[in-house]
Amino acid sequence: MSTASSSHSTVANKVTVVGAGFYGSTTALRLAEYNIFDTVVLTDIVEGKPEGLALDMSQSRAIEGFETKIIGKTTGPNGEGYEVIEGSKIVIITAGLPRKPGMSRMDLLEVNAKIVRQVSENVARYAPDAVVIVVSNPLDEMTALAQIATGFPRERVIGQAGVLDTARFTTFVADELGVPVASVKTLTLGSHGDTMVPVPSQCTVNGKPLSELLPADRIEALVERTRNGGAEIVGLLKTGSAYYAPSAAAARMARAVAEDSGAVMPVCTWVDGQYGISGVYLGVMAELGAQGVRRVVEVDLTDSELESLRKAAEAVRAKQADVANL
Ligand code: NAI
Ligand code: 2OP
Repeated sequence: MSTASSSHSTVANKVTVVGAGFYGSTTALRLAEYNIFDTVVLTDIVEGKPEGLALDMSQSRAIEGFETKIIGKTTGPNGEGYEVIEGSKIVIITAGLPRKPGMSRMDLLEVNAKIVRQVSENVARYAPDAVVIVVSNPLDEMTALAQIATGFPRERVIGQAGVLDTARFTTFVADELGVPVASVKTLTLGSHGDTMVPVPSQCTVNGKPLSELLPADRIEALVERTRNGGAEIVGLLKTGSAYYAPSAAAARMARAVAEDSGAVMPVCTWVDGQYGISGVYLGVMAELGAQGVRRVVEVDLTDSELESLRKAAEAVRAKQADVANL
């Protein structure tokens, strides 16, 4: 996966990242280093933070060799400053609190719901044609809330979780077997939480099924480590959560939308009949294009994987119904 390139061929004019914390700032830099956007906008409510970070990132252009302009803007709760996002084709919402050790993603529900609702309403007002990529936690619920609060068509509001969780699973498999990550293909579906569904039956190493390379108990250990991948890093950092791999995941999704590429990846999207599941935002494979999700792509699952995916759908469904009132 290349980042900065010497030629600046713009495929999309403007992308906005809301929230200039660890996740948002690293995402903004990754997007700028792709060198395919005219402008990356970074916003935050902390006075001067997005302006300062944007200025710093801009000064790396001459060293790293990219031309994308990076604009930072402090915004207010009533939409002050939001005019800066006008014309954005993509808005990535990273605003919200991260976890502390011992907290679950669900512990962030109420506080982040207020933030995501307020941000989404301003996004709808100032960037009404944007594709929205949500990353704030709890992810599946915040994605559902952003769709409600923007009123955008469901295919234009997507959540980031599966690209990250799958990358973690891939890393653990590669490290266990001592092989390059590029030779490993894994997949996780379901929620970005306790009901995450790593899918061992879809995992291969150089095309060989994982089950032929590792005993079942080792695969189960890697599945469990993947489910706890976020908490493992929170426990080590003690303040805040992961952001290098998460920002790579969100930036990759944004790039697929910007380039209208048709790339297929696991994302949190509206599921409507696939796998016998309907009416819920859930992590599944989907094809991405300029309008967000073009279609959900169903993959073969074992009976127990399918059962886990249906359980995940039921677990997040109730919570997603609640967020409408937050
Ligand atoms: P952080 O604390 O470093 O940054 C959050 C930023 O949001 C802060 O700068 C804060 O001032 C800003 N903010 C708060 N309210 C705002 C508003 N109304 N408008 C604009 N900005 C606002 O946290 P970090 O590490 O950047 O994480 C951000 C979110 O992403 C958290 O909810 C975290 O749990 C989530 N996350 C999700 C992942 C995923 O895979 N979906 C992975 C990692 C983190
Ligand atoms: C992560 O998975 C905490 O959702 C965050 O790293």
